[in-house]
Amino acid sequence: MSLLAEQLDALLYNETDQIANLANASALLNEALADVNWVGFYLYHEQTDELVLGPFQGKVACMHIKNGQGVCGTALKQQKCLRIANVHEFKGHIACDSASNSELVIPLFKGERPFGVLDIDSPSFDRFTAEDEATLCEFAQTLMKHL
Ligand code: SME
Repeated sequence: MSLLAEQLDALLYNETDQIANLANASALLNEALADVNWVGFYLYHEQTDELVLGPFQGKVACMHIKNGQGVCGTALKQQKCLRIANVHEFKGHIACDSASNSELVIPLFKGERPFGVLDIDSPSFDRFTAEDEATLCEFAQTLMKHL
């Protein structure tokens, strides 16, 4: 397990409150990752088929994203991680913080059911490597064990 996933596992030990765990997971990522300007969660609401803003670190952000829209909604719909080197070239990208230039979105599932996404933005172009993606996927899997 990566150090980051181990730190999360220890941090969330014996805590089952969902908001508390998501809030501390976003704070841990914000501390640990260099060169990021927004880190947080959007949570899936089945009734409205949309993502709603959850715990995060960063500037105020849009609160509702339709499933399939933006980088977040597309990652959820396609059920795959999206590592976007230049968000301005992503058709339908939703600009919340104008400082964001690259983005990594990891869809989260509880078993088969969509739970939400982990969204990380950077002011640098092409900030996220394949290795970052693997580390953050493992981080997300560790998080889901605590939710
Ligand atoms: N850029 C995202 C929206 C969320 S903000 O980056 C916090 C998107 O296109 O889905």
